[in-house]
Amino acid sequence: MELESLKPKVLELLANNEKSATERMHDVCGLLKESVDYYDWVGFYFKNGDKEELKLRTYVGAHTDHEIIPFGKGICGQVALSNQNFVVPDVQAQDNYIACSINVKSEIVIPLFKDGENIGQIDIDSDTPDPFSSEDERFLEFVNQEVAKIL
Ligand code: SME
Repeated sequence: MELESLKPKVLELLANNEKSATERMHDVCGLLKESVDYYDWVGFYFKNGDKEELKLRTYVGAHTDHEIIPFGKGICGQVALSNQNFVVPDVQAQDNYIACSINVKSEIVIPLFKDGENIGQIDIDSDTPDPFSSEDERFLEFVNQEVAKIL
C-alpha cells in the first residue's frame, strides 16, 4: 500500500463533522491498521491533563494494559519529553521499553503538535522486524498535523 494514496482517505475521515474528534481518530487508526500490512496496533496517546503522563485516547489492535504511561517511561514516554520521532527497528534492543504483546517486533512513535506544543502522539506497533522507513515518518507527521486541526 502506497502511504501517499491513503492521505485523501485520512482527510475524508477527519472531516466527518458528525463524529467526535476521538471517533474520527479511531476511524483513522482503523484505516491505517487495515491498509498497511505491517501496522498491527495503531493508537493515539495524549498528555493527561496537568499530569506528567500520557493517556490512551483511542486505538485499534490487541488490548493493551498500558492506558497510562508516565513521561520518560517506554518509547512513548520518551517521545513525550524529547519531541522527536522515535523509530524502533527492534524493540528487544531497547532498555526503556514497555512491552504490550510478545508478538511486537518494532515500533514507531511520532509526536503530535498543536500550536507548537507536544500534546500527544501516534504510536504504531508492528509484528514485522524493522519495517519502518522515512516514508512512514513523513506520512505519520502528515496524519498528526491533520489530527491537530480538529483538536
Ligand atoms: N511500547 C510502548 C507502550 C505502548 S504499547 O506499544 C501500546 C512503549 O514502550 O512506550
